[in-house]
Amino acid sequence: MTTNKELETNIFNNSKDDLEIYIRQCKLEDLESVIEINERELPEDYPYFFYKSILDNFPGCFLIAQDKNSNVVAYIMWRVEKAPSTNSLKYINQGHLVSIAVSKNYRRKGIGQALLANSMKAVKKYKIKQYVLEVRVSNYTAIRLYEKFNFKIDSIKKNYYRDGENAYYMTLDI
Ligand SMILES: CC(C)(COP(=O)(O)OP(=O)(O)OC[C@H]1O[C@@H](n2cnc3c(N)ncnc32)[C@H](O)[C@@H]1OP(=O)(O)O)[C@@H](O)C(=O)NCCC(=O)NCCS
Repeated sequence: MTTNKELETNIFNNSKDDLEIYIRQCKLEDLESVIEINERELPEDYPYFFYKSILDNFPGCFLIAQDKNSNVVAYIMWRVEKAPSTNSLKYINQGHLVSIAVSKNYRRKGIGQALLANSMKAVKKYKIKQYVLEVRVSNYTAIRLYEKFNFKIDSIKKNYYRDGENAYYMTLDI
């Protein structure tokens, strides 16, 4: 697997909580833990091959956070796709946030923010013009996180989720 030195050396250290978190690219052997976190923390779940194909195609944009005992406590994954720009008819490369989740006991410690910041750098290397994502309209916490990174609500996708909830489509131009 290709390694990304810049990301692998990134150690997130929150001295206030005596919390040591190491952020690195996801490896095949981490997928089971990633899927466990996804199933515990989010209503949207995906089959194994979906995670595997993201890992195979965009390994640099699939990051995990692990604690000092090497337990995976959070992940983020993106894919890159060609899509019409929201501002013009041109097709552009977009970085599409597929999923992010932090285990409950590790929330509100800056891990989500660190994962987002690190992965956005990695996604940018694909020469994207825009970051895009969908988020449940009720997911105040995640919306606040994305707003902190200057994502703006572009539109509402009606009935986007299986249970019928609407999504905000949020974008950030580069
Ligand atoms: C959304 C999520 C990834 C945030 O992760 P986290 O590690 O707790 O977030 P951080 O500690 O890095 O917080 C970063 C910013 O997010 C926002 N935020 C995080 N938790 C928040 C909360 N409970 N209330 C309000 N804002 C919150 C704040 O803007 C915060 O910045 P601040 O601490 O300076 O105020 C996490 O809550 C989670 O896993 N939720 C369940 C899965 C999910 O909803 N994923 C998103 C799907 S689109």
